[in-house]
Amino acid sequence: MNSGIKLIVLSGAGISAESGLKTFRDMGGLWEQYNVTEVASPEAWKNNRELVLRFYNERRKQLLEARPNDGHTGLVTLEKYFDVEIITQNVDDLHERAGSKKVLHLHGELRKARSTADPSLIYPIKGWELKTGDTCEKGSQLRPHVVWFGEPVPAVKKAVQIVSTAEILVIIGTSLNVYPAAGLIHYASPGAEIFLIDPNPVNMPGNREITIIQKGAGEGVKQLIKILTGKGKKV
Ligand code: APR
Repeated sequence: MNSGIKLIVLSGAGISAESGLKTFRDMGGLWEQYNVTEVASPEAWKNNRELVLRFYNERRKQLLEARPNDGHTGLVTLEKYFDVEIITQNVDDLHERAGSKKVLHLHGELRKARSTADPSLIYPIKGWELKTGDTCEKGSQLRPHVVWFGEPVPAVKKAVQIVSTAEILVIIGTSLNVYPAAGLIHYASPGAEIFLIDPNPVNMPGNREITIIQKGAGEGVKQLIKILTGKGKKV
């Protein structure tokens, strides 16, 4: 039985870096290799569907070979002490594969496809490939179940509600460049303790007091566990 203290995590691509998945804005990141507007936007899907399908197929293939790292599993360990909920910007399923029970995907899920005719029709993608001609039960082409630039983020309302319950907020592996995700920190109550785990400096919106653990996810989460369980918190 954990303490019931609400620990909310906001994660980004950096937590999956040590699993071998590329981030977006680091050196060698995805946005260095691809032009966002050509692979992750409704216009790209209209003008160059095959390139969009290939972009996500390649990432899905890599994901199937990747494994959760100590960052993901450390967050599962924290479930022994706290009521943990994860809000992730990542479309990978490494949090779930590590064993995290409550995961909200703000930007969709790489291993799912969605009908282009009816967005409520969502299907698991078996294997790594989604092709032209893969259709929903209504016969319409399936697309990646991912939020593209310029599209709404339906899960943000739920995410705001979850962040507002945080007694501890842990931000890990995100450059906080993309809204509305980056704005979630403003919904943490004034009494919430905020931690940031990132090997690089991150410019944080607002001026909240933050404990910075300037480490990679694996080492950083281990240090966080020591801080939170060693500091006499009622855990
Ligand atoms: N451990 C923890 N953090 C790391 C590690 C690591 N090993 N390696 C890099 N990082 C940090 C980087 O320092 C950076 O702050 O991860 C962050 C990655 O930032 P981005 O590449 O911008 O990824 P993210 O913040 O998740 O992007 C948000 O932008 O392109 C969209 O939809 C896409 O969900 C994505 C969103």
